[in-house]
Amino acid sequence: MSNFDIIKIRKDFPILSKKMADGKPLVYFDNGASTQKPNAVIDAISHYYRAEYSNIHRGVHQLSTFATQKHEDARKTITEYLNAASSNEIILTKGTTEAINLVAQTWGRQNLSAGDEILISNLEHHANIVPWQMIAEEKGAILKVAPIDDNCDIIIEEYEKLLSDKTAIVSIGYVSNALGTVNPVKQIVELAHRNGALVLIDGAQAMPHYKVDVRDLDCDFFAFSGHKTFGPTGIGVLYGKEALLNEMPPYQGGGDMISTVTFEKSTYKKSPERFEAGTPHISGAIGLAEALNYLGSIGHSSIVEYEDKLIDYAYEKMMAIEGVVIYGHPKKRAGAISFLFEGVHSHDIASVLDMDAIAVRSGHHCTQPLMNTLGVSSTARASFAFYNTFEEVDFFIKSLEKAKTLLM
Ligand code: ALA
Repeated sequence: MSNFDIIKIRKDFPILSKKMADGKPLVYFDNGASTQKPNAVIDAISHYYRAEYSNIHRGVHQLSTFATQKHEDARKTITEYLNAASSNEIILTKGTTEAINLVAQTWGRQNLSAGDEILISNLEHHANIVPWQMIAEEKGAILKVAPIDDNCDIIIEEYEKLLSDKTAIVSIGYVSNALGTVNPVKQIVELAHRNGALVLIDGAQAMPHYKVDVRDLDCDFFAFSGHKTFGPTGIGVLYGKEALLNEMPPYQGGGDMISTVTFEKSTYKKSPERFEAGTPHISGAIGLAEALNYLGSIGHSSIVEYEDKLIDYAYEKMMAIEGVVIYGHPKKRAGAISFLFEGVHSHDIASVLDMDAIAVRSGHHCTQPLMNTLGVSSTARASFAFYNTFEEVDFFIKSLEKAKTLLM
């Protein structure tokens, strides 16, 4: 863990030294909702607006040419980070949600017919359920759901049984936002491909923890959000295999995505411009590229090694508190631990923790069907990033014990 200096890392994130009410230091365990930003990202965005700002693809003047270059450099950084074959495979979106909607509304509208099946899992976030329901309703397609076992792992045998020549696409999260289950995505892709189905991976909760290689995964589409990957809000990525993308119709019409326009007919550019109508989130792309560079500078194996130890430590300590119920005991976990005190509402737990300036999320985590399966309406969720510390976990455990005395 040689590059991994937690004291130095924490100094890279200015908000982590913030004091909340009563001077209590912030303990930020809501990384599943959004991650904090390092100085490198904040400075890159600020510098763009202070010294380099212009629209892109629009002018021949120096500023516009430079901004265009920076935007396309950002796409190149993302391409290399994901090990995509070409920058043409990287579409910049608002986030994971827009990326999934884009595939459902373009690939789905073009390719799905009545009776075709879309296969998701019981763990999915609403962003990987609702877009498929919408297109399924329109096309008469059927949404199938791979079940989970008592530990909240996808039952792979059941997933495999659900695959058939009717399965058009499998769309599955890499890491569950609500529970932290890490799915065997490579195996999921391989099984789907054997059945002739395409695969979209919702990587929103994987990117903050793992180095993703889309060619190694061999997924057809991969979606993630900048703000969950230490970058800005309002920017995300859809990776897609180039041949597939160029067969898909455009998503939205407007400037920059066209080759020619007459009042009779328009023709469209290839990917990625084809899917990027209008002025994009230029500073978002620059900030996201900077976030990925920052992660690279810390070192991915050090991040995984540290986080695995941290989350195991938190899990063991939480399990040892009588009355705490943890939801999900998957074979492999990243990022999140969902829990409740028996009979206590999640918002009450989160409010009491907040009195100690500990930020956790409470609610259904945009996974209402999963909550129904678990038989609860909500949970409290502690979600970690590589800048969290063992001392913060100890403080959280003490606060949880106090909360238990207050609430149970
Ligand atoms: N999807 C985000 C979360 O899990 C907002 O909290």
